[in-house]
Amino acid sequence: MSRLLEVEDLQVSFKTYGGEVKAVRGVDFYLNQGEVLAVVGESGCGKSVTAQSIMGLLPKKVSRIKGGSVTFEGEEILGLPKKQMQAIKGSKIGLISQDPMTSLNPTMMVGKQIAEVIKKHTDIAKNQIKVRVIELLAMVGLPNPEQRYSQYPHELSGGMRQRVLIAMAISCDPQLIIADEPTTALDVTIQAQILDLLKDLQKSLDTSIMIITHDLGVVAEVAQRVAVMYAGVIVESGTVEEIFENPDHPYTWGLLNSIPKYGSGEKDRLIPIQGSPPDLFAPPTGCPFAARCEYAMEICVQEMPDKKRTSETHHARCWLNDPRAPLVKDLISAGRAE
Ligand SMILES: Nc1ncnc2c1ncn2[C@@H]1O[C@H](COP(=O)(O)OP(=O)(O)OP(=O)(O)O)[C@@H](O)[C@H]1O
Ligand SMILES: [Mg+2]
Repeated sequence: MSRLLEVEDLQVSFKTYGGEVKAVRGVDFYLNQGEVLAVVGESGCGKSVTAQSIMGLLPKKVSRIKGGSVTFEGEEILGLPKKQMQAIKGSKIGLISQDPMTSLNPTMMVGKQIAEVIKKHTDIAKNQIKVRVIELLAMVGLPNPEQRYSQYPHELSGGMRQRVLIAMAISCDPQLIIADEPTTALDVTIQAQILDLLKDLQKSLDTSIMIITHDLGVVAEVAQRVAVMYAGVIVESGTVEEIFENPDHPYTWGLLNSIPKYGSGEKDRLIPIQGSPPDLFAPPTGCPFAARCEYAMEICVQEMPDKKRTSETHHARCWLNDPRAPLVKDLISAGRAE
């Protein structure tokens, strides 16, 4: 499998009245051709900022890329001039953003909005563009696509608006789709339909997808690989099987304990992760999860652990995986944890 996207040591900060927010603090992950990667983590951990950095969509005045690299098809795209990035956006990377209402222009027919993207990024003949838009609207499962073409965003339901955004994202046959919480604002049945649609499109168009979510249920449904993000860092990454069946980071254990299991009885109560993420104005020097981790050792607050690989695809940044660390069961019996 060839690498389509590679993010290495990405660091992004924001200037605010309160000081510098270190939102992304050395993120690394990759995405292979034809693969679906899920990036998961709590609200505020830097998922959207990571996506915005890749797409060149960071707010210029207040943000600063402090380091790292983003290569797409082997070429550096981090911090590319606006014009060059525009050419990649839309034609090679499509974005489905977190909020369909703000991503669509409320004063313009949805069909026209997709037509604009096609006009800008492809050389489809002018008289063929409308036909293509209607075809795309049908492809994303909108009933009566001819009629939908002339409707405005407010005339559509949330699920339909999300389908319009998906149509827009795939309109120029991108190699990569970045979907930032594409189903968060939708009710459960519509969520499932949108995920099915993304899966179908990924297969039929052979596109790669980076899906951002805080919902591990979504991960299990669509992704082949997972990157778990916490306080601006990827703390664990692996295949879906590795993450669900053999997770190596206490934050991932916490995430897994806080999702309902199918057919679970009363004994398997959901256990929320206690505490809150660290202050990103002054992030800790050690592991950012240490303050909430019931297995934290002295070293955890002093030093950020390196990546420890347990397979070609699986790694975690946790001192518990160091060969010198005591086993978790020993920590529990020593009364360090429940
Ligand atoms: N324009 C901005 N100015 C200042 N701080 C920002 C800005 N955008 C994001 N941040 C900060 O960066 C951090 C990461 O934000 P981000 O939006 O990436 O979180 P997220 O993981 O996408 O969360 P959610 O799941 O809620 O969408 C947060 O602490 C946020 O407050
Ligand atoms: Mg977000």
